[in-house]
Amino acid sequence: MKDPKLNQDLLAWYDRNARAMPWRTPPADRAAGVRPDPYRVWMSEVMLQQTTVAAVKSYFEKFTQTWPTVVDLANAEDADVMAAWAGLGYYARARNLLKCARVVAFEMGGTFPPTHDALLKLPGVGPYTAAAIAAIAYDEAAVVVDGNVERVMARLHDVHTPLPTAKAELTTLAAALTPAKRPGDYAQAVMDLGATICTPRNPACGICPWNHACDARASGTQTELPKKLPKTPKPTRRGIAYVAIRGDGAVLLEQRPDKGLLGGMMGWPGTDWAVDLPAPAPPVNADWQMQNEQVRHTFTHFHLVLDIAVARDVHTPPTRGAFIEKTAFKPSGLPTVMRKVWDMISKSG
Ligand code: ADE
Repeated sequence: MKDPKLNQDLLAWYDRNARAMPWRTPPADRAAGVRPDPYRVWMSEVMLQQTTVAAVKSYFEKFTQTWPTVVDLANAEDADVMAAWAGLGYYARARNLLKCARVVAFEMGGTFPPTHDALLKLPGVGPYTAAAIAAIAYDEAAVVVDGNVERVMARLHDVHTPLPTAKAELTTLAAALTPAKRPGDYAQAVMDLGATICTPRNPACGICPWNHACDARASGTQTELPKKLPKTPKPTRRGIAYVAIRGDGAVLLEQRPDKGLLGGMMGWPGTDWAVDLPAPAPPVNADWQMQNEQVRHTFTHFHLVLDIAVARDVHTPPTRGAFIEKTAFKPSGLPTVMRKVWDMISKSG
């Protein structure tokens, strides 16, 4: 058991070193009584799942400028939200974001529920997100554990059990340090400590507010922790993407099914993605030209290698998808793998 007063040292450090973020209410403002907007806290925490702060910032600005309140977002067109999310990855988050906004706007009078347990019932809100919103937006003493917090706790207590086995143990250790006062600032302080000082490779132990109490530092094991079970190697899948272009520049796109990878996003029609290259499945009768270059993209569970077929001056009606006029086609609205296909073709003329 660590001295519970350790959390006060960290809060004092956070008061001096809190990172500025577009969704964050700085500790001085919170102390003066400024309350964060739960909508912005929720939006940022959903975007930050599996995604870096640097990648999220511009998306957060775009979303909150376009849809300043949860009611605005709830009334948005699905396609506009999916296109705005394009490039951020893990598209189930965008579909759940809309579902959740509609529940909050239309069934809860536009107010996010103020407790961890009630937040947990919302679409797309799991234990981490519920705890983060409860702590940051409502100052509930919820235990917030992300990858940063796991690393900090594993080092502070010199835990050698590998992740994910160690999750429950690290959560118990995190809970023992979560303060009743300022739990919102504290949650963000541990995450900032993990992101800026207790970093995976070269932790800056010399300037860490917890260095005097850190068991890993005392044993010299900090860079070995947290231990992780070996990852299973990712298989490679293959597929063919078809880019059909009409004489007037319109391009053939198809909305992917809601369920599954890139669910609900627009993309080039194609074959399934499988370990053995699937049989051709062109979406329209045309003079298809296979490209020399392939497109590579890595998803959570596999690498994808796509062969690309291009047909120009297409004038037959397609059996799948719909032609989008040249002026309406925005590559920025495509998920990254589909945008890579377009970039490759644009480059080769
Ligand atoms: N990572 C996820 N949420 C965060 C937050 N609120 N502050 C810092 N890092 C985070």
